[in-house]
Amino acid sequence: MKANDPPATKRPPVSAWQSAFSTSYDFSRREPYDPGTFLGLVREITEKYFYGFYHPLGRRLIAGDLSPEDLRFLAMQEHAYYAGTTWWNAGKLLRANTLAEQRQLFAPLLDELGTDLVDDGGLPAHSELFVRYCEGLGVTREELDRAPLAPGVVLAVTELRRIATERPAFEFIAASNLVVEKMRAKHYAALLETFATSYRWVPKSALLFYEIHARLDDGHGSLGEAFVARYAHDKRDQDAIFSAVQRSLCLRLAMYDSIASAMQSPGGVGLVPWPNFPGEPWPRPAS
Ligand SMILES: [Fe+2]
Repeated sequence: MKANDPPATKRPPVSAWQSAFSTSYDFSRREPYDPGTFLGLVREITEKYFYGFYHPLGRRLIAGDLSPEDLRFLAMQEHAYYAGTTWWNAGKLLRANTLAEQRQLFAPLLDELGTDLVDDGGLPAHSELFVRYCEGLGVTREELDRAPLAPGVVLAVTELRRIATERPAFEFIAASNLVVEKMRAKHYAALLETFATSYRWVPKSALLFYEIHARLDDGHGSLGEAFVARYAHDKRDQDAIFSAVQRSLCLRLAMYDSIASAMQSPGGVGLVPWPNFPGEPWPRPAS
């Protein structure tokens, strides 16, 4: 080896793992796709790269390969993500363009906030149901509040809050309803099977969060398709929506990369969230 040669490495070359999303969507095409073809392309890339089925950590979770400690760690990280859903849905209403759209988006917001607000027999907020899932795993609320978050989780929830509050309504709906909510029913149905077979130590009463989303999100995904289809007639708009879908897939893959890396290499740093994270730390109400 000569003095200027790079050091030998056992890692595979970059070209061995780097590849682009496989899609026939063409950003340089000028004429718009017909609406059915466009939504078909969105569906295809989403089904292929949805993190729950595509990411190695998502696949290990579904395969029942995670230890109790792994499941608890994943839940503590995902808690920060699921705690954002009420703000995201409120952002969709805030950024809607018509009263009709707001009325269409209200039911999913109420689902997230908790139907117990309007119905004595209703359900609590979905974020509360996720906390109860964590408790079923043996994680306390205090532990959730002070759990350091992996850097990719911090970025994901910060970016989702930003898109929901600052970007056009159709962009967040593309990023959320067309990607995650479209896939949730299938994802959580598979996960519930895994809980029943491989994670039987998790009490069934803790799984309500997954049970209701296995039913509800199918409807939310269809709502998203109808909503986005109204904005997807010009090629420029189709490009905006398709790019939002790709960035949404990337965001969740990056979040899982960061969680998987933290699981595999203890000793990395994380951020302990302040009480109204990912909002600005101040001002906040006195407790
Ligand atoms: Fe939800």
